[in-house]
Amino acid sequence: MNRIVHGVSALASGRILLVDSEQARVDYLENIFSFIDYKVKVVDDFAELQTQISSKGEDPCVILVHGSDLDESELEKLIKKIEKMSVKPALLVLQGEDDESSNWKADSRFIGCLILPTRFDDLHDLLHKAQIYREQQLSENLSQRPLELFRSLSGNSRATRHINKMIEQVAETEATVLILGESGTGKEVVARKLHYKSTRRGMPFVPINCGAIPADLLESELFGHEKGAFTGAISTRQGRFELASGGTLFLDEIGDMSMPMQVKLLRVLQERTFERVGSNKTIQCNVRIIAATHRNLEEAITKQKFREDLFYRLNVFPIEMPPLRERVEDIPVLVNDLISRIETEKRGSVRLTPAAVMALAQYSWPGNVRELANLIERMAILFPYGVVDVKDLPEKFRTGISVVEQTGALPVVSISGEEPDTVAAVPRLPNEGLDLKAHLSSLEMNLIQQALDESDGVVAHAAKRLNMRRTTLVEKLRKYGLQRSQESTGF
Ligand SMILES: Nc1ncnc2c1ncn2[C@@H]1O[C@H](COP(=O)(O)OP(=O)(O)OP(=O)(O)O)[C@@H](O)[C@H]1O
Ligand SMILES: [Mg+2]
Repeated sequence: MNRIVHGVSALASGRILLVDSEQARVDYLENIFSFIDYKVKVVDDFAELQTQISSKGEDPCVILVHGSDLDESELEKLIKKIEKMSVKPALLVLQGEDDESSNWKADSRFIGCLILPTRFDDLHDLLHKAQIYREQQLSENLSQRPLELFRSLSGNSRATRHINKMIEQVAETEATVLILGESGTGKEVVARKLHYKSTRRGMPFVPINCGAIPADLLESELFGHEKGAFTGAISTRQGRFELASGGTLFLDEIGDMSMPMQVKLLRVLQERTFERVGSNKTIQCNVRIIAATHRNLEEAITKQKFREDLFYRLNVFPIEMPPLRERVEDIPVLVNDLISRIETEKRGSVRLTPAAVMALAQYSWPGNVRELANLIERMAILFPYGVVDVKDLPEKFRTGISVVEQTGALPVVSISGEEPDTVAAVPRLPNEGLDLKAHLSSLEMNLIQQALDESDGVVAHAAKRLNMRRTTLVEKLRKYGLQRSQESTGF
């Protein structure tokens, strides 16, 4: 998934399509935009613009149209065309120095107006607005991709099934949801899924990373500001609360929010109103709040780093994401889905042998699903359309693998002193202890896989080898996602 970076000062560079026929103005704008790393493509009229945006590979982030060149019917046509684009560019109107004051300036079909000569701060604000508009487009665009790949929380473990059930139950309510869990466990996946399962799905999902934005800028980023509210506030700007109106605001890394900002947020949650920085006008807030953090908020409360009252406001419906090492049964399904994602995005493909998947179940995954996603991506690059076996995995996933191939993660000693090649061998409990449930699951998965391999995938034969009923084995295969892994990887 594309991660959207929510910076306030860092503007993403991109392509701008400029519709203007006056050379002096074009030169001026080309100079400015190239200075801030934007590429400008100049077109003379609307006909050429239509051709440009239809051409393959042309993905402008901004379309800038000179106001005097505008014609209502052509503008209508252009807007219809833009509507069809999967990620729509931000449409801006340009008002030249000598132009009569333009009535396009207040036209809501434009994201904003660039008045010449411009100042850096004005331009920066305008491009920032265009950037947020694009971010929204991108996050909405993700929602249009196959639901099961990008909005679903893949996994067959009991924990993941339970979380999916909770999402179904709470999505349609207006309850504030607090998602907790280690980094990379899928908190944002859950937040997006909640939004798209809610009645607000047609409205924006606006994420904001409260930890990534400097404390003194967060307030205006959340609530917006009026022109002149502080040095640098050259123009009025909407905040994320306004941008999310009717939809969902995702307050990511809420545990990193400063105490003064927490007070302000609490007020909005209580009163459901806010003001832009520098304004007295009260704005009604119609957003559903979802918050997430990897921090232990209860601990933060005792250290006086997080307000208890805010915690209770947010913690209406908590969802705790378990680390991946506690739900290794999810790994085969996740591997499949992460590969499908790469395929859908046309970034190649790769396959993993069942033994390689088994080896992954032995690893502790400090980076959780994100680490797994990165590994799969890396494998797809190193072995394009190839088959990855245990020996091809990076070293850390192979540690103790010869033992793994026999009995699971742990070193074994034989009771009789013979080679440890039977399940009667007794694993040694490591000094640091172990997660018994996870270990037994991975051992079970490993042995089932071996039985299946030896029975050429015939479940009835494998069940016999394991001395269990066929239906019980089928149930276990479903639980561990082993059948899916076999079917779709062709093993
Ligand atoms: N259950 C899942 N099914 C499919 N993909 C998942 C799942 N969980 C996580 N991912 C993927 O793993 C990556 C990390 O997920 P996400 O960004 O939601 O984690 P996070 O908990 O918000 O992490 P952080 O605390 O670091 O922000 C993403 O690429 C996401 O698509
Ligand atoms: Mg996150």
